[in-house]
Amino acid sequence: MSASLATVSYIGATILFILSLGGLSNQQTALRGNLYGMIGMTIAVLATVFGPQVSASGIPWIIGAMLVGASIGLYAARTVQMTQMPELVALMHSMVGLAAMLVGFATYIDPAASSGFTGAAKSIHEMEIYIGILIGAVTFSGSIIAFGKLSGRIGGNPMLLPGRHWMNLVGLLVVIYFGREFLHAESLSAGMTPLIVMTVIALLFGIHMVMAIGGADMPVVVSMLNSYSGWAAAATGFMLSNDLLIVIGALVGSSGAILSYIMCTAMARSFISVIAGGFGTTSATPKPAGGAAQPAGEVTPVSAIETAELLREAKSVVIVPGYGMAVAQAQHTVFEITKFLREKGVNVRFGIHPVAGRMPGHMNVLLAEAKVPYDIVFEMDELNDDFPKTDVVMVIGANDIVNPGAQDDPSSPIAGMPVLEVWKAKTSIVMKRSMASGYAGVDNPLFYKENNRMLFGDAKKMLDEVLTALKV
Ligand code: TAP
Repeated sequence: MSASLATVSYIGATILFILSLGGLSNQQTALRGNLYGMIGMTIAVLATVFGPQVSASGIPWIIGAMLVGASIGLYAARTVQMTQMPELVALMHSMVGLAAMLVGFATYIDPAASSGFTGAAKSIHEMEIYIGILIGAVTFSGSIIAFGKLSGRIGGNPMLLPGRHWMNLVGLLVVIYFGREFLHAESLSAGMTPLIVMTVIALLFGIHMVMAIGGADMPVVVSMLNSYSGWAAAATGFMLSNDLLIVIGALVGSSGAILSYIMCTAMARSFISVIAGGFGTTSATPKPAGGAAQPAGEVTPVSAIETAELLREAKSVVIVPGYGMAVAQAQHTVFEITKFLREKGVNVRFGIHPVAGRMPGHMNVLLAEAKVPYDIVFEMDELNDDFPKTDVVMVIGANDIVNPGAQDDPSSPIAGMPVLEVWKAKTSIVMKRSMASGYAGVDNPLFYKENNRMLFGDAKKMLDEVLTALKV
């Protein structure tokens, strides 16, 4: 493939990627967005493999590597549970970081990759290598720790070393010092020492950064590492002089940063505070009852039949799904109940919290899979004012996102996080298996409110019973 055809293909792929991102911002156009992305990626891969930068002798190697990678990807995609998606995503981010690191070292070692650079161009090229490896190493080790935390292999509590901010600052100064040494190195071997020292510091920093972040802030970390992986890819693009990789990396990096910002707003966290760590302490044991904002009193259990009765009498129902709905795979029964109630003239709507479940858009994906119409699915801000006019709210396997303690209890780990104000409805029904806390490990005063009912049991099983009771 000629260089000009490769460039045209890259421009085409870039446009398709931008259209893909635009499409993914809306449920109705998401399918088309995915399609654009797939076509763009196919063009990008073909233009790179058959482009001028790859010699014919390298193609069998690339095809071999692609077959191995594709098989692993296919296996992972087929076997992964929806609830394990965040940890899979974290693992994939680590791969981007690892690739950036390896490409950086290979570019530095390979005489052909560095030939032709003199003077300022050589310094810029070496700076690209240094920064590329730095971002790659932080992304790699940070993502591995995030994977460990999200999959429960590493505890969710933040590891707060004494003087951790000073340690980070010293690490940064050492990295800057060795960066200077690297740029002034006379030979390849002299340059390797500062490069390796910086890599070790960056790896340790990635571990330290994510270890210091509490379980409740992990959603932000996942999207932040998503952003880092984009910047790592862009850095790789600079090292390989590949314009497409630079553009795509920048797209991923900036969209990840925007998502991190949105998630921080949704959880009332400042981005800097999350990075600095120590928030979202997840003590697994709920705090004892007592005190103004603490839960007190008894819960009122209800049966599936009583729930069906409440729903039948309601004119307006809001369903708030959470992580438990995903675990129970209850979305299809939720749809059946919704359909039944709507046919009876009940106004049924869904309220989605930005961090419900375990990944951005988790609930939207499940509801779309169950064919729930998009026009009755609302974001938290669109519904919060409507709760006082709502007869029944069904909270299905959600906990933290409906916790009034976030508003009333300044000492709560989720204090300040905007929540769905379901307790303002006439009646709220919380469906879960026990009194256990949610992801953030805090008790929920909602359960003890006078107008709240608890429907204990697996969400799918209980909803099946509710549906049967509705239909008799
Ligand atoms: P959670 O607060 O985690 O609560 C989920 C509840 O579902 C649990 O209390 C659990 O109670 C119940 N549950 C589990 N399995 C169930 C089943 N089979 N049937 C019925 N109930 C079941 O979930 P949420 O309200 O969706 O809030 C999300 C939390 O995850 C937030 O703290 C958020 O910060 C965090 N987080 C979010 C993300 C993203 S990006 N969305 C990523 C990582 C973490 P029982 O055990 O008593 O049944």
